Amino acid sequence: MGIVGGGTVNVLKRNAEEIVRRAGRGVVITHAATRDINKERICDTTGITLTTDPQAVVSDPEVQIIVELIGGDGLARELVLAAIANGKHVVTANKALIAKHGNEIFARAQEKGVMVAFEAAVAGGIPIIKAVREGLAANRVEWLAGIINGTGNFILTEMRDNGSDFADVLAEAQRLGYAEADPTFDVEGIDAAHKLTILASIAFGIPLQFEACFTEGITRITREDVNYAEELGYRIKHLGMARRTDKGVELRVHPTLIPERRLIANVDGVMNAVLVKGDAVGPTLYYGAGAGAEPTASAVVADLVDVTRTLTVDPENRVPHLAFQPDALSDLPILPMAAVETAYYLRMQAADKPGVLADVTRILGDAGISIEAILQKEPVGDSDATIIMLTHRVLEGQMDQAIAAIEALDSISGEIMRIRLETLDAD
Ligand code: HSE
Repeated sequence: MGIVGGGTVNVLKRNAEEIVRRAGRGVVITHAATRDINKERICDTTGITLTTDPQAVVSDPEVQIIVELIGGDGLARELVLAAIANGKHVVTANKALIAKHGNEIFARAQEKGVMVAFEAAVAGGIPIIKAVREGLAANRVEWLAGIINGTGNFILTEMRDNGSDFADVLAEAQRLGYAEADPTFDVEGIDAAHKLTILASIAFGIPLQFEACFTEGITRITREDVNYAEELGYRIKHLGMARRTDKGVELRVHPTLIPERRLIANVDGVMNAVLVKGDAVGPTLYYGAGAGAEPTASAVVADLVDVTRTLTVDPENRVPHLAFQPDALSDLPILPMAAVETAYYLRMQAADKPGVLADVTRILGDAGISIEAILQKEPVGDSDATIIMLTHRVLEGQMDQAIAAIEALDSISGEIMRIRLETLDAD
């Protein structure tokens, strides 16, 4: 009964008539569990029995569907499993829960013949689960890339547009209710990794493997990087990227340079967007609010309508939780980062003397890494010059070795800043 719970009550009440017309019957909230019954809320709770005992709700024989909007994977997991054991359907917005415990939860749900719907867990109000799982069912999905954390996107946008300070923008996202309870989940990419894990599973038909997702946050991105990227025609976005290759699945969240002419590069503020490339349809782009009370409630209520419509459908013939039949999931491995192929932005501090650039380009050349662009910023006073390079695609393992060799040069000071680059071409 927090932000999303309150939004769900409001949307269900406001659109009750339309919902009956869509679902064929009404959806009534009868019980709600809340930590503090007397707390001020954004919704009217008239007609809802409030309790501080969530177990009482999940075991109430009158309740058919449980909506879990607690978050985290402690109490929420316990309650969802208890609800399933009691034969109740579940609607949840909890990405951490699904990404980390979804395999177990879906297996229990299948045994009991109940549904677990989780549209609101990924990209808030954008119906991306529905789109990938059902709308694109004809396709072999080749890759998908998403801006799936509004808080991180808000921070990067404000850094670029207003030169704002990281901490100030984060505080604003917290005030607006977008940030996670622990905001490091937003800025370190954990929240995006939860969501990407779910998307990859329904796109490729693989079990949920959150632990294998590579996750790098945005805390090391400087205003200078944002500006240099811009000079070279790119925007830096915190991107979740999942790609199917012959050898395995790339599953990675990290800051990424994207050509500024791509639509997704222009998704700003707290908005989310997911680009999905299917073999038949080509690239498709989904855009909308990824957080907030009513956008997230929009997805929760859509799941409630879906579950309500299918209450009477034979459990064996419902849309599978992970899009593919549970006994037909693939064991394609998640690739280690060393085996991932991508292009790079490199920023380094170099002594301003003859031959330095030649040394750097020789190391890259010897490693088979081709350079796409070079930008040199003149030193201010006695300081080093800044060199920025864009490279063509190369295996990350090869780039790791080249970076280590360049950092070992006497003329290069400090660590090299590396940001991955994706052109997100149609092919
Ligand atoms: N903290 C998340 C975000 C909320 O900023 O996108 C929605 O999952």
